[in-house]
Amino acid sequence: MSDKKLVPLNHLLNISGKTAIVTGGAMGIGFGIANRLAEAGANVLIADLNGDQAAAAAAKLAETDLKAKAICVDISKEDDVKKMVAAAVNLFGSLDILVNNAGIFPNVPLSKMSLSDFERVIAINLKGVFLCTKYSSEQMIKANRGGKIINITSIDSLHPSMVGLAHYDASKHGVWGFTKNIALELSPHNIQVNAIAPGGILTEGVQDAQTNAPQGIDMSKVMEVFLNKIPMHRMGEPDEIGKVALFLASEMSSYMCGSQIVVDGGALLS
Ligand SMILES: NC(=O)c1ccc[n+]([C@@H]2O[C@H](COP(=O)([O-])OP(=O)(O)OC[C@H]3O[C@@H](n4cnc5c(N)ncnc54)[C@H](O)[C@@H]3O)[C@@H](O)[C@H]2O)c1
Repeated sequence: MSDKKLVPLNHLLNISGKTAIVTGGAMGIGFGIANRLAEAGANVLIADLNGDQAAAAAAKLAETDLKAKAICVDISKEDDVKKMVAAAVNLFGSLDILVNNAGIFPNVPLSKMSLSDFERVIAINLKGVFLCTKYSSEQMIKANRGGKIINITSIDSLHPSMVGLAHYDASKHGVWGFTKNIALELSPHNIQVNAIAPGGILTEGVQDAQTNAPQGIDMSKVMEVFLNKIPMHRMGEPDEIGKVALFLASEMSSYMCGSQIVVDGGALLS
């Protein structure tokens, strides 16, 4: 038995003094993550394409004295991403945690998928992750205080969940491959890179996909089939991803490098 004194649990989960960027943090899973990171003491920059919603989300956190600011960003645009990283440092003095969460999941069968449909999903879900990681890790290396990068992939990075998501599945398989490679490259700089693969989480985006389904697709049927496949018989909540993100953002995950945590109520088992 080692005599090494263990760090108390409340210290392990305390990320006070750290600054986190959460892309797509204005709603859904991103807001669930921003909320838990801020509760654990971090300064949080909510970086979202929807600037008004991002400002409202930051204001909601600030109501309970949590430290949050907002910035309007399109993560598929290089200049926006550079400005986002600079804003985190200007507002809070550092950048320690990046959560690559922003993503889109329009349902379009391959037979109806245009080149621009395909390119848009890849631009946001894969190129956006590349840009945010590139400029954030540059800042983390320059500051020489390590860091944590958390990529929100999907169970679709491992196995398709439904027809109509070929472009999405290509992007998420890509993010998982990207995660493993940069975990290798950034580890010597004490930057830990890991991923979370959510299953079905009830968010604004999922509700929107159900109401705006393409012609000929009965999304309520698709969702019924999907729900029946989940051993826990329910969709997840954004906070159930937020809690795992806090684990990866904190010293709780001190020996994790290039892993993907599946949080899906067992969906991949069936
Ligand atoms: N909800 C699920 O069931 C589920 C399952 C697996 C993986 N995911 C992944 O989790 C992430 C979040 O999903 P969600 O369900 O919370 O989505 P959501 O649509 O509810 O929220 C996504 C947020 O990202 C923002 N966003 C979209 N494009 C952006 C861009 N170009 N730049 C900056 N922000 C942008 C939106 O404005 C929105 O605030 C996505 O990467 C998604 O693929 C979701």
